[in-house]
Amino acid sequence: MNPRLTRRRFIKGVIYSSAAAMSGAGLYLTNAQSQSGAAVERLISINVNGRTRRVDVLPQETLAHTLRYKLDLTGTKLGCNRGECGACTVLIDDVTNYACSTLTHSVRQREVTTVEGLRSPDGQLHPVQQAFLDELGPQCGFCTPGQVVATVALLKSNPRPTREEARQALSGNLCRCGAYDHYLNGVMRASGQLS
Ligand code: FES
Ligand code: FES
Repeated sequence: MNPRLTRRRFIKGVIYSSAAAMSGAGLYLTNAQSQSGAAVERLISINVNGRTRRVDVLPQETLAHTLRYKLDLTGTKLGCNRGECGACTVLIDDVTNYACSTLTHSVRQREVTTVEGLRSPDGQLHPVQQAFLDELGPQCGFCTPGQVVATVALLKSNPRPTREEARQALSGNLCRCGAYDHYLNGVMRASGQLS
């Protein structure tokens, strides 16, 4: 047998079997992609600050990511990105939630409110925002949107909280600047207990 022919046949065989394997893998990927595409609808509607927003959302995408990077609502801050600091606090149906730990797909059919949604239509600050300013709550300001949103939720359920109740309600919102007393004064002012 001609050794060169044998070698050529061998190489052809290797190339053929590789191509077959690759096309099999390609088919598998195509099937997997089309299956996942069919299973998860990516273009969804969510209600944010009273507006219906259409947005392309990956299955594992967090609400914080969608708000900040797709809807340009950067008032929601990302600190720890793992449910520890409260910088990303938003309201979902008037209840505080960490947006970094909430999947965007889970808020369909629900109402999301971010700090941008608290001002009145004429641009006037929400009373909690004004009270925090009056009490010099914001230092660097990074935690402020989360503190504001958590306080708005508190005052909806408890319009005149004690200072201790306010402390507990804001305990999920860390402040690296240590302005806790300022924020608590702000809660007291916003609830009409400080003049
Ligand atoms: S960024 Fe969400 S809790 Fe810290
Ligand atoms: S004001 Fe700076 S982290 Fe709270």
